[in-house]
Amino acid sequence: MSTLAIYPGSFDPVTLGHVDIVERSLGLFDEVIVLIAESSQKKGLFSISEKKEHLQDVFKHEKRVIIDVWPGLLMEYAGKKKANAIVRGLRAVSDFEYEFQMAAMNKRLRPSIDTIFMMTSEKYYFVSSHLVREIASLGGALTDIVPPVIEKRLKEKFKK
Ligand code: PNS
Repeated sequence: MSTLAIYPGSFDPVTLGHVDIVERSLGLFDEVIVLIAESSQKKGLFSISEKKEHLQDVFKHEKRVIIDVWPGLLMEYAGKKKANAIVRGLRAVSDFEYEFQMAAMNKRLRPSIDTIFMMTSEKYYFVSSHLVREIASLGGALTDIVPPVIEKRLKEKFKK
């Protein structure tokens, strides 16, 4: 039986840190759904359809990666898809509290599906979408932090 992981997030925008987690997840699972989910706490820079297009572009050569969008409860989606696990990346201790709460709540909502955490690779531990948006808005370079196509999209977004 094939195994499926869901990697949910805001992906606003997708960074090389996210790409790294997806690639490593493919070593553990047969398929990975990168799920653009909504966080009530965050106001987006890119629209859902822009983010979907970005992710499709970034993972176009990887047949085992599926991009999807879900406006509702993550665990409802995971149950429908019969996922084996939710994957999340952990950068620093500061991520832990939020991630621990979310994983515990998700486990409560659907006890059969666990969240597994992957430590971000050393070279990406400082990368966050929030900082990427800030640097892009101020015209800074993002080479080796986001995929080239995303750097291009950010430049277009903040073009004066
Ligand atoms: O990349 P982010 O913003 O840290 O991802 C957070 C996300 C989207 C994974 C989280 O907000 C989420 O799962 N949203 C879907 C709605 C949901 O199920 N909320 C309850 C979480 S306990």
